[in-house]
Amino acid sequence: MNVLVTGGAGFIGSNVVAELLRRGHRPTVFDDFSSGFADHVRRLDVRVIEGDVRDADAVRAAMAGQDAVCHLAASVGNARSIADPVRDASVNVLGTVNVLQAMREAGVRRIVYSSSAGIYGEPIREPVDEGHPCEPLSPYGATKWCGEKLCLSVMHLHGIRAVCVLYFNVFGENQRYDAYGNVIPIFCARAAAGEPLSIYGDGRQTRDFVHVGDVARANAEALERDGVRGPINVGTGHRTEILALAGMVARLADRPPPIVHAPERPGDVRHCTADVRRMKALLGVSPRTDMPELLAEYYRWFVRDRTYEDRPRE
Ligand SMILES: NC(=O)c1ccc[n+]([C@@H]2O[C@H](COP(=O)([O-])OP(=O)(O)OC[C@H]3O[C@@H](n4cnc5c(N)ncnc54)[C@H](O)[C@@H]3O)[C@@H](O)[C@H]2O)c1
Repeated sequence: MNVLVTGGAGFIGSNVVAELLRRGHRPTVFDDFSSGFADHVRRLDVRVIEGDVRDADAVRAAMAGQDAVCHLAASVGNARSIADPVRDASVNVLGTVNVLQAMREAGVRRIVYSSSAGIYGEPIREPVDEGHPCEPLSPYGATKWCGEKLCLSVMHLHGIRAVCVLYFNVFGENQRYDAYGNVIPIFCARAAAGEPLSIYGDGRQTRDFVHVGDVARANAEALERDGVRGPINVGTGHRTEILALAGMVARLADRPPPIVHAPERPGDVRHCTADVRRMKALLGVSPRTDMPELLAEYYRWFVRDRTYEDRPRE
């Protein structure tokens, strides 16, 4: 299949592109490189279009000749959306509308949309299944929810098959340090620099950390399996306490750094574990759950990558 991968130069997108290539598909990357890296796609044999999903003409031109779309381009993260809610909404909502409209005009009939567990908000029951109420705690959660609903509406209106894969906390290769980013690269950067690992609150909050290899497989399966549609959680069903995570990362460093506590952050939920029954049944993905080993693999990649060394010191 010819697959347009928006956000294909990003952390997850570049892993999706690699997985599609392994399966014999022909991906094209569409990315504005605002948080993605040319490095991530340079070593892959793919066509790259530099463009912004907010530019309807550029998206329309990129859609010609495609059979399907994996839509990952987004302004990512709670903190970034709180700092700049206008950008968050324009990329995540209007960008998604442009992608769907271009698909409709070009007759492209399948989309895999990258959604987020952030749409659920603070869980009222766990594990969180796809029928859980959606009460996002940040503009980011709200705009990802809106993107998901836009995709599902075109399914009813225009017969475009939409699968919304809702990621929990993704980590793995190509996830670089980002001040707005996720806890694992931040901990790894600090551990590698011998600086304290700072935990928001008491550290008893938990997350469901899913490896990017499983996320990439979920995207490819969602694309290939004709009968699959609607929302599907992509996580592991296992919870890890942030305090335990800090301990695991600290043990990977040459000299284990101290662990310190900082005030809780707005927009963060306390617990969030995925119900992954739909993912296993519909996509056939059995996620890896060996956290210490997966973290050790990631730490080796992270330290080799070295780009975190340019980060501002907090
Ligand atoms: N990382 C996670 O744990 C996680 C969890 C849930 C959902 N997601 C979703 O997965 C997707 C990928 O996230 P990621 O973690 O790889 O982040 P990322 O920042 O590495 O990837 C986003 C990509 O989109 C590109 N992009 C941003 N704005 C764009 C625009 N206007 N036009 C074109 N390209 C643009 C960026 O340059 C980048 O390459 C996003 O849709 C995100 O909401 C990620």
